[in-house]
Parts: sequence; structure tokens; C-alpha cells
Amino acid sequence: MAHVLVAYATKHHSTAEIAEAIADELRARGHVAEATEAGHATAAGFDAVVLGSAMYLGRWRREARHFLSHERARLEAMPFWVFSSGPIGEPKADAPPEEDKWLEPRKVIEQAEELGVREHVVFGGRVPEDPGNFMERSMLENTPEEFRDRRDWDEIRAWADRIADALPA
Ligand SMILES: Cc1cc2nc3c(=O)[nH]c(=O)nc-3n(C[C@H](O)[C@H](O)[C@H](O)COP(=O)(O)O)c2cc1C
Repeated sequence: MAHVLVAYATKHHSTAEIAEAIADELRARGHVAEATEAGHATAAGFDAVVLGSAMYLGRWRREARHFLSHERARLEAMPFWVFSSGPIGEPKADAPPEEDKWLEPRKVIEQAEELGVREHVVFGGRVPEDPGNFMERSMLENTPEEFRDRRDWDEIRAWADRIADALPA
């Protein structure tokens, strides 16, 4: 059994719900897991870490970026996994490669790879339901209802299961 921190950075809470689902699944698999906002978390005392952030304008949120750099020595010494949450709207089959930069935080992935991250995945996100500015309001208005929440809970739980399998029983 491992003691796992699931640290997350969110603005509109949808990434927090992903982190909670990962922690729930790890607990269901017999591990001890807690989901905590990255800004209030430390990896000290844990056996493994899952770190995730919502994507805004091609970047992770600051709290998750800070966690990665402040906790680098601890992360380097333990298994850790990383996820980003972002894509919303109708999936595009033929998106040009230059659009990839909006999906994956390249610098973060490079830093995580230097520290030995086991895996980085991208989960679908949810359009802010409580828009706080013009951009968020127009996103909400211009996204058809069926593509506003692209989080796939089976995919999220399956990823958490892979993590559970890789941790000491
Ligand atoms: C202003 C704005 C910018 C965004 N930029 C990106 C982006 O660059 N890449 C991406 O994949 N998703 C982007 N998104 C989608 C968010 O990542 C998505 O809504 C996510 O689920 C929000 O997470 P949160 O609810 O935890 O804050 C953007 C959303 C907004 C409102």
C-alpha cells in the first residue's frame, strides 16, 4: 500500500474533480490517497505523487508549476505522474501540428522528464460554467452543450488503475 498525494491546480474546479476521481480510484485499489490543491501541498511524507493542472493559454497554472520546481528534489526520489486537463469543444480530427502547443505544456513536460516522470497524459476539460470574463463567456456561448464537458471518467479511472498497478501493493 502506498501513500499518494494527488496535487492539482484549477481555476474553475473541473481539474479538482479529476484529481478527486483519481484519488478515489487509488483508494478503491487499496492505497491511501489524498487530493490537495498544489498551492497548499508538499510531497514530503508521501510515497508517490500525481500532479495535474488545468491548461490556460498553453500553460499550466502557476501553483502547479511552482509545485514542480519547489518539490523537484523530492519528486526526483519518488515515482510521480503528471496530467494536464484542457481540450474542450468539438474534437478536431485534422488539427494542424502547430495547435499541439495549446494541448501540452512543453516546458513542464521537459522539466518533469528530467525528474523521471513516469507518464504525462492530457484529459479533456470542461468549459467554465461560471465565466468570469469576456473570453470565458464567449467560450461558453460558442461551445455546443454536448462538447462543453469533455472529461472521460472511464479514461481517468483507467489511468488511475495503471498508477495503482505500478505502486507497491
Ligand atoms: C481563457 C481560457 C484559455 C484556455 N486555454 C486552453 C489551452 O491553451 N489549452 C487547452 O487545452 N485548454 C484551454 N482552455 C480550456 C481549459 O483548460 C478547460 O476549461 C479546463 O477544464 C479548465 O480547468 P479548471 O476548471 O480546473 O480551471 C482554456 C480555457 C479558458 C477559459
